[in-house]
Amino acid sequence: MARVLAVVLILALAAACAAPAARGGVTSTYRRSLQMLPDMPFDADVFRVPAGFNAPEQVHITLGDLTGRAMTVSWVTPKLPGSNVVRYGLRADNLTLAADGTVRRYTFGRNYRSGFIHHATLTDLDYATTYHYAVGFGYTVRSFSFTTPPKPGPDVPYKLGMIGDLGQTFHSNDTLTHYEASGANAVLFIGDLSYADTHPDHDNNRWDTWARFVERSVAYQPWIWTTGNHELDFAPELGETVPFKPFTNRYPTPFRASGSTRPLWYSVRMASAHVIVLASYASYGKYTPQWTWLQEELKRVDRTVTPWLIVCVHSPWYNSNDYHYMEGETMRVQFERWVVDAKADVVLAGHVHSYERTHRVSNVNYDISNGMATPVFNRSAPVYVNIGDGGNIEGLADKFRWPQPDYSAFREASFGHATLDIKNRTHAYYEWHRNHDGVKVVADHAWFTNRYWMPTDTN
Ligand SMILES: *[C@@H]1O[C@H](CO)[C@@H](O)[C@H](O)[C@H]1NC(C)=O
Ligand SMILES: *[C@@H]1O[C@H](CO)[C@@H](O)[C@H](O)[C@H]1NC(C)=O
Ligand SMILES: *[C@@H]1O[C@H](CO)[C@@H](O)[C@H](O)[C@H]1NC(C)=O
Ligand SMILES: *[C@@H]1O[C@H](CO)[C@@H](O)[C@H](O)[C@H]1NC(C)=O
Ligand SMILES: [Fe+2]
Repeated sequence: MARVLAVVLILALAAACAAPAARGGVTSTYRRSLQMLPDMPFDADVFRVPAGFNAPEQVHITLGDLTGRAMTVSWVTPKLPGSNVVRYGLRADNLTLAADGTVRRYTFGRNYRSGFIHHATLTDLDYATTYHYAVGFGYTVRSFSFTTPPKPGPDVPYKLGMIGDLGQTFHSNDTLTHYEASGANAVLFIGDLSYADTHPDHDNNRWDTWARFVERSVAYQPWIWTTGNHELDFAPELGETVPFKPFTNRYPTPFRASGSTRPLWYSVRMASAHVIVLASYASYGKYTPQWTWLQEELKRVDRTVTPWLIVCVHSPWYNSNDYHYMEGETMRVQFERWVVDAKADVVLAGHVHSYERTHRVSNVNYDISNGMATPVFNRSAPVYVNIGDGGNIEGLADKFRWPQPDYSAFREASFGHATLDIKNRTHAYYEWHRNHDGVKVVADHAWFTNRYWMPTDTN
């Protein structure tokens, strides 16, 4: 008996020594049902059309300028154009200010024509102030409110939500419900919104249902949009040859404020975070507009004002899942050196429908001939977070590559969302929540220390 125990002990010791030491990544053993869920049916409660003739629906807001002293409000009226005016003010019962917007419609394929899509930008707002606003004048008026982000500054706390590849299944509804309980101030949405294009003829009614579904959050706090492949809606067979048509008609971004020339790439500064949004599905090769813009944008980053540099991109640069493996590689080759030189703190991606967080790694010295093709630990490098686990109709990406690469710190094929709770210039607390658990359970977490203010710290 004692001998058997000794042998077991020796074997266990040998196994422990052979295991990758400090950097060993975790592949979570948690297994959820892989059953794919369809989109919620058109008559689901979350898609309900608001009561009242021509009632505004699909209300959503995003920053209207660089720092949140402007907010763009968007909404759809179904029957008639109605008014383009947003009334707003500090008191719900006395909306003393007004902003006039625009209205448009678009068609898609042979059978779809959108409702009347309105966009209006509220300007001259104060920082960190709650505004009440209302839309739908002339017919049915609906009222909402939002709080502007605080004035940018190095130690201004702010809590960002991170959601990607959400779609509109029952899982998506769980993700949104859990996100709402997080108490975060704004969402970095990492692309792939409605998955309308998974339906016949890219059924754009699914863009409408999606917008009604998420209104319960995005009418009250800004979501910052990154575009994914499901925003392309490129369908020559339907006569639709201009990519991003539904997205750009529906979801304005404040791209001009950061000197960008297209809505797909831009930056915003909220509290102590400088957020750069990149477009995986617009050209980014050398000399292209996006390439030129990013080069200039990185010079505008001032870590003494906004210490936290966060990059959002749909297709991941580091990801150890078989699904979409290396699709982000060309962009990584193009931009990784800049992002590491800039000491970005976090690069967020989606696209792969699972969750993964990396260690700080870079692969910036490979030049095809020198053989240095393996990512290495690098204190200047960002953490890569893959948050493509919103819960859409395509189901989970559950085929991880083995062995787990050294750069992968934690990975799990489940749906969920993450938050980044920025405390001050040096510390931010990061959490990932899987949907299966109660809203209070944290399945993965880490303290991130700031790359500019604590460059030698290993976290
Ligand atoms: C979606 O979630 C909300 C909030 O938890 C709930 O009230 C609603 O009934 C859910 N809808 C569906 C279709 O599951
Ligand atoms: C609404 O606000 C305006 C401007 O602050 C003020 O002059 C007016 O008296 C207010 N009306 C009510 C009913 O409170
Ligand atoms: C770490 O990143 C820096 C900044 O881009 C780079 O100069 C350096 O070569 C990288 N270190 C390694 C070991 O790759
Ligand atoms: C920053 O926040 C961290 C975490 O809450 C805390 O430990 C640290 O003392 C704070 N730094 C300063 C200068 O307040
Ligand atoms: Fe995607």
